[in-house]
Amino acid sequence: MMTQEAQAVLARVLDGANACLTCSFQAEDVVVLHLARQVRPDLPVLFLDTGYHFAATYEYRDRMAAEWSLQLINLTARQSVAEQEAEFGLLYQTRPADCCGARKVEPLMRGLEPYEVWLTGLRREQSPTRANLQVEETHKLPTGKQLAKISPLAAWTNRDVWQYAKEHRIPLLSLYDQGYTSIGCEPCTQLPLDPNNARSGRWGGAKLECGIHTFTQPGS
Ligand code: ADX
Ligand code: SF4
Repeated sequence: MMTQEAQAVLARVLDGANACLTCSFQAEDVVVLHLARQVRPDLPVLFLDTGYHFAATYEYRDRMAAEWSLQLINLTARQSVAEQEAEFGLLYQTRPADCCGARKVEPLMRGLEPYEVWLTGLRREQSPTRANLQVEETHKLPTGKQLAKISPLAAWTNRDVWQYAKEHRIPLLSLYDQGYTSIGCEPCTQLPLDPNNARSGRWGGAKLECGIHTFTQPGS
């Protein structure tokens, strides 16, 4: 049922549209990718390569890119990690909002520019900040260009995601086996502090969002 609804959304929004998926290679993103590839096997897959991901994330990304012949696009910041650290030190400790701004938000806004439709693996259950997430939203880029931001799994629970992955024998990122429930850059990801809040291990519980999803205008 949940799967059919997601498939219907994807079939409709991908029809003739210039679309991409942002993929962190967490379970929900890989599930959206699996569903979207049934409609669009050559869908561009945008990965925000901050330079700070876990080695396991890079290995898994490369494995999936090879096994699924992905059209992977790595989006990088204007400064390398070495350049940023030489100039500012460990920004993720001192000013994480600026680090995310430079390594995620800016490259993503630039990377989204060529597209009309942006697919994500966002789900309402992930965080109180996502409780009002709609399957279809509008996102305005800094240039003024508008995209349809589509989250086909908005209503899915964690269980739905895991069940889908299991049914379709999709290998998942190995870090889940170590107890991680929400996985981003290594310095800003810990085991969850609150077992009822999957994102409580992100940014030491100090913030819930990096900024890539907080510019979106709901509705339209
Ligand atoms: S984040 O805002 O805290 O980083 P989260 O890890 O929950 O987000 O992922 C939510 C969505 O943001 C994913 O479904 C994906 O579309 C996008 N996203 C997050 N991190 C990345 C990344 N490194 N590369 C590409 N997309 C990402
Ligand atoms: Fe920097 Fe942490 Fe944001 Fe990654 S999650 S871009 S390391 S502040």
